[in-house]
Amino acid sequence: MADKGGLEGIVVARSRLCSIDGQRGVLIYGGYDVNDLAEHSSYEETCFLILRGHLPSGDELESFRRELAASRALSEETASVIDMLATHAAPMEMLRTAVSADSFDDPDKNSNAEEANFRKATRLIAKMPTMVARYQRRRSGQEPIEPDAELAHAANFLYMLTGERPREQAARTFDVALILHADHEMNASTFTARVIASTLSDMHSAITGAIGALKGPLHGGANEQVMQLLEDIGTDENIEQEIRGRLERRERIMGFGHRVYKTYDPRAVILKRFSKQLAEASDEPQWFSMSEHIEKAVMEEKGLYPNVDFYSASTYHYLGIETGLFTPIFAMSRVVGWAAHVIEQHGDNRLIRPSSEYVGPALRPYEPIGQRSASAAA
Ligand SMILES: CC(C)(COP(=O)(O)OP(=O)(O)OC[C@H]1O[C@@H](n2cnc3c(N)ncnc32)[C@H](O)[C@@H]1OP(=O)(O)O)[C@@H](O)C(=O)NCCC(=O)NCCS
Repeated sequence: MADKGGLEGIVVARSRLCSIDGQRGVLIYGGYDVNDLAEHSSYEETCFLILRGHLPSGDELESFRRELAASRALSEETASVIDMLATHAAPMEMLRTAVSADSFDDPDKNSNAEEANFRKATRLIAKMPTMVARYQRRRSGQEPIEPDAELAHAANFLYMLTGERPREQAARTFDVALILHADHEMNASTFTARVIASTLSDMHSAITGAIGALKGPLHGGANEQVMQLLEDIGTDENIEQEIRGRLERRERIMGFGHRVYKTYDPRAVILKRFSKQLAEASDEPQWFSMSEHIEKAVMEEKGLYPNVDFYSASTYHYLGIETGLFTPIFAMSRVVGWAAHVIEQHGDNRLIRPSSEYVGPALRPYEPIGQRSASAAA
């Protein structure tokens, strides 16, 4: 295969965490098929699996749940940073800054020891939903809602966002969406986290950098762009024409294509099912039907399959979540994968420092400023 750049096909780490079979559309966390986890597990249990490498016993799960629930509240300092950002920062700018600020008073901030990293990972998993919900309440002129330790991770987030305890179907759909985004092998943000960790920098720095990488529209930012696409097209009528036009202009259709999957992304299969169920109970069934229609048109025109971001957009929309929060929600889930990769990197570290091929000018003499022509300076 000719080198197309972008480190395609390059193995940069040995990892026990997650594997993908891109030809068959299989995603595995720690030996478990994501379909089985979506069917039987919870986000808390999946976090334990990803962090600790095995499914928890009943006692282990109970104690991890309690630890997460007890860690949800924000420090006064982090809360005030979020309040300050609510009026003028975009959601991912807020999250990137709030996670960074949260390191200031973290009791383990100066330790990269494995148990300190587990504690920091647990706190970040617990706090990021509180950050997103607080920001959203503040920016829409509402009082923040304190976390409820009686509620599970997914349900508590929806509660902090809306002020209402979610129905069973909404809570379970959101829980599964979090499971599906929890880890994904050596994706761009995870690689970013590992590069930062490899300098022996700390967990918060690595997660902050990963959030920056996730923000881009070719990565986690795609889910918001999908909703934008659905709203721009607005109706089922001209979808083929619209998709053909965009592809002819060489525009990317967000939520389609993948570096690794050459078939259906298994996460998209599950989210499509949820989106369909929610559409059937909604008075806005068009978002799902348009999505299905777009999927068909993109397959016919370009042979591309939907990825995780495509049906997560309509699913989140049906759950009443504002489009601007879709990528922060992705980060809220992926934080466990990033953290586990940081722990793995710290556990067997060598500085990640690749090379580049130099294609600049050959060695040349330094010209004093008065002897430089405009073109030579260019
Ligand atoms: C995810 C993504 C960045 C992977 O890119 P990649 O592995 O670098 O693939 P390439 O950019 O080399 O694309 C290969 C070909 O498929 C096309 N392609 C890939 N994704 C496409 C998309 N979403 N829409 C239109 N064309 C696409 C490229 O234009 C290219 O076509 P060409 O060979 O005719 O030039 C890419 O598929 C994409 O941009 N998707 C949209 C953004 C998205 O949904 N991201 C979330 C990923 S989970």
